[in-house]
Amino acid sequence: MRYLTFALAKGRLADQTMELLEKIGMPCEEMKEKTRKLIFLNEELGVKIFLAKTSDVPTYVEHGAADIGVVGKDTIIEENRNVYEMLDLGLGKCRMCVCGLPETKEKVLKSHSLTVATKYPKIARDYFYKKHKTAEIIKLNGSVELAPIVGLSDCIVDIVESGKTLKENGLEVFEEICPLSARVIVNRVSIKMEHERIMDIIEKIRAIKEEK
Ligand code: PRP
Repeated sequence: MRYLTFALAKGRLADQTMELLEKIGMPCEEMKEKTRKLIFLNEELGVKIFLAKTSDVPTYVEHGAADIGVVGKDTIIEENRNVYEMLDLGLGKCRMCVCGLPETKEKVLKSHSLTVATKYPKIARDYFYKKHKTAEIIKLNGSVELAPIVGLSDCIVDIVESGKTLKENGLEVFEEICPLSARVIVNRVSIKMEHERIMDIIEKIRAIKEEK
């Protein structure tokens, strides 16, 4: 039997995803241990699971190095890869927002020309383009909330989950761009070649979700 390969996003989502996989009968104990190992085999089930950098998950799935991926909708939109989005897991719920310093809100919302710092240049560019605004996008790789505070940008486009990071840095949400959550994505060839096995997994996950 060919291994069915899963790419999971490292970080916040990983634990919740593993919990879900365990519920459908895929043990993940070894992955939960503190290890530098990246790939895990379950010979009995014919399953291979690896942990990848979040933004790389859609790349592995598009190229067929993974049949199935679990990753946030933010990454799916930003990476814009040729994959099937099969299921909303409802995990890791958060929002993509335009945020900034409260005292600049009015100016930012009225302005037709802005500098915007973000880890998500495509999402930010598309959003301001649709609003007919000129946005100079400054790509950052983390701690994006710093940008308006130190004068790098007028505002940021970033994920807001609990709102704690914004609050502790004196920022607020100006506008919501879209809601986000974790999704299951599938390679376009795998869905044909491994249809039965993949659909069996999807249905098992769906059933668990519906129990809640
Ligand atoms: C994300 C996001 C925000 C924060 C939001 O960053 O970019 O900074 O989480 O979460 P909250 O609303 O619950 O505070 P992450 O923790 O991934 O780290 P990063 O800033 O290094 O990207």
